[in-house]
Amino acid sequence: MEEVVAELVTEATGRGVSICQATNEVTITGYAKTLTTAQVACDTVEVVLGQIAAEMQIPPLAAPVVEPLAEEDWATAWQHYYHPLRIGRRLVIKPRWEAWPPEDGSLTAHCDDIVIELDPQMAFGTGTHPCTQLCLEATETLVATGDIVADVGCGSGILSIAAARLGAKQVVAVDNDPVAAEIAAQNVKHNGVGGQVRVVIAEGLSGIPEDFNLIVANINPATISSLARELASHLLPGGHLVASGIVVEQADDQTAALTRAGLVDIHTETRQDWICLIGRQSDC
Ligand SMILES: C[S@@+](CC[C@H](N)C(=O)[O-])C[C@H]1O[C@@H](n2cnc3c(N)ncnc32)[C@H](O)[C@@H]1O
Repeated sequence: MEEVVAELVTEATGRGVSICQATNEVTITGYAKTLTTAQVACDTVEVVLGQIAAEMQIPPLAAPVVEPLAEEDWATAWQHYYHPLRIGRRLVIKPRWEAWPPEDGSLTAHCDDIVIELDPQMAFGTGTHPCTQLCLEATETLVATGDIVADVGCGSGILSIAAARLGAKQVVAVDNDPVAAEIAAQNVKHNGVGGQVRVVIAEGLSGIPEDFNLIVANINPATISSLARELASHLLPGGHLVASGIVVEQADDQTAALTRAGLVDIHTETRQDWICLIGRQSDC
């Protein structure tokens, strides 16, 4: 019943829902702007749930309830849950408003740390998502001093800044969302890597003249498949493509797409349910 109820609540509130699963029950929460709207949505959902239970001859589901929420600045509430984190061997992602090392002693600073200060605002790329972490680790492993790197779907600019700080001499950060590109440009400037990183608004690598030692693309499976040939064609001999935004179940399809694009030695790194694929352009 989970999806049916979630759909009902979505329709009744006109907004997204959250679905929370415990061992023996599922709680579906919808959000409304006013108590009146919430109550109307609740009543509607209750009537339909009653009809479904009667038709299916099952016990009625728990009646929906309305709970008022405390006023909060939702635009910045997420910042309370975003703290410095270590990724890979030397990378530290530090929200711009947090201290480094943290005052609570939860992490310690090392002299060779590469600290990236971020304010992701509305862009994807805080460093907390497994795909971003896999891409950061692959970037740390693969970037060599003097490399030319592309970050396709740069979001907050997190991977581009990491590549530049790890020694890349030139990084092209691309996003097709102008808001993300603007946020990436701000983060690039704040981290002092504006001389190395060029932020571009584009679809994939269209209109980008360079070829690269490393291309990182943390987007989604459909886009990775459709861009695979274009990305591979922008790799220098022996260059690597790191592709992510992919769940474990899609590993075979995505590996096939990179193979069709001509990449070799394709392997997978996994974190939770997510993977990144790493493939190489042949040496000649
Ligand atoms: C999952 S976020 C990745 C952000 C960041 N690179 C990271 O690893 O956390 C994907 C980004 O790709 C961008 N994007 C989606 N399709 C794209 C395309 N065809 N060309 C360029 N950027 C694209 C989105 O706007 C979004 O900012």
